[in-house]
Amino acid sequence: MSEKKPLWGGRFGSSPAEAFGRLNASIPFDVRLAPYDIRGSIAHARMLGEQDIVTPEESRELARGLEAVLREVEAGEFSWTLADEDVHTAVERRLRELVGDVALRLHTGRSRNDQVSLDLHLFVRDAAEEIRRSVLAAMRALVEVAEAHRDFVLPGYTHLQRAQPILLSHHLLAHFEAFRRDLRRFEAARGAANASPLGAAALGGTPHPVDPAFTAAELGMEPLVNSLDAVSDRDFALDLLYACTVLGVHLSRIGEEWVLWTSSEFGFATLDDAYSSGSSIMPQKKNPDAFELMRGKTGRLIGDLNALLVTLKGLPPGYSKDLQEDKEPLFDAVDTVLAMLAVLPEMLRTARFDGERMADAAGGFALATELADFLAMRGVPFREAHHAVGRLVRRCEELRISLEKIPEEELVAAHPALVEMPRELLTPEGSVANKKSSGSTSPGSVGAQLQRAREFLDTDRRVDG
Ligand code: ARG
Repeated sequence: MSEKKPLWGGRFGSSPAEAFGRLNASIPFDVRLAPYDIRGSIAHARMLGEQDIVTPEESRELARGLEAVLREVEAGEFSWTLADEDVHTAVERRLRELVGDVALRLHTGRSRNDQVSLDLHLFVRDAAEEIRRSVLAAMRALVEVAEAHRDFVLPGYTHLQRAQPILLSHHLLAHFEAFRRDLRRFEAARGAANASPLGAAALGGTPHPVDPAFTAAELGMEPLVNSLDAVSDRDFALDLLYACTVLGVHLSRIGEEWVLWTSSEFGFATLDDAYSSGSSIMPQKKNPDAFELMRGKTGRLIGDLNALLVTLKGLPPGYSKDLQEDKEPLFDAVDTVLAMLAVLPEMLRTARFDGERMADAAGGFALATELADFLAMRGVPFREAHHAVGRLVRRCEELRISLEKIPEEELVAAHPALVEMPRELLTPEGSVANKKSSGSTSPGSVGAQLQRAREFLDTDRRVDG
């Protein structure tokens, strides 16, 4: 084997042009798959021995050599060159340097097509789990912050107009629910990735008596069913990208909300100095960059998902080099969500809330629905009640007073059934306490939600072992 020629160089008269080599190479980014590539190769080498495709000594030597390469990778000592083309070639080249020509037998009954697909499956399986744990950490922070501010009220918004008072803890637990759905998506992506394509070889299987069930079991995976599907499938990567993108959208919405909350206009919360930055020109500025980046980086995540969808849409079954483009968007998405989740829990824990400002904003006309519901409870048809309270709101504007301050005679003038309305209903605290439906923002309901959230996290911790 000539040292200069690529591993497929046998049928070629000359080496690849340098510019083509650069275009063609995936080693600058797929070197990240090296630990997975080596673990897959160790399983393959063991299977080759079990099946008498290589001798038991050769199998052991291959596995030992691969373990030595893995140690180099883990120690950061593994070096590659562009001539290696991709991680599979680089690992095999290094193996040959370490154990000699027995390395030339490793690729029996295997192709880079099933190999690269396996590497990516293993990567997705780990990444999905790592992200799942990071989402759980964010959920724990949400619950802690919710518990520490159990009676803080703020306005809930529709159309970004003050709508009705809600508990801050209720608001935070809304994000908890979104994250809980994210967890399920990452679990599903992990499950989809847990299938080994080894044994598919290039696309149609191999004449060697390989045992796909053996390699799959070595890696804790399910074996392939259809060799053509096994080399073509990237659905599991799409699943992870989609899960990352939806999570990103959730983080982006949290980001947008905190950008508003920390503005002087809202003034609901202040970020710890460790999680905000200043302006190079305006000395007074304290900017919520991390939350802006959660909003900003989510654009990239949407792009990453789209990149792979578009790459895949035109590909016939089998391997096309387009598939090499599956890696960078995937890596980018995983790194991006992990970077965001790395800051979120502490940012939430260290933020300070201005309970007074929130409660002030939650009063006034945000209590109007309470009056309409009160009338409806007294038997007034809701539509009629709605009109009466609408008139009352207009009257308050004429009198330039807030709804809480409206005199009794004005209430009765707006609707006789408002006589002797309990005044505490016209406070943010009274309004939230008055909610009866399950899942509502009443302290009782939020207490139950918190308890459920705690139990969920405790169960998940047990599952985590
Ligand atoms: N570097 C390639 C990739 O990332 C590995 C598979 C190459 N297979 C092939 N038939 N050229 O997809």
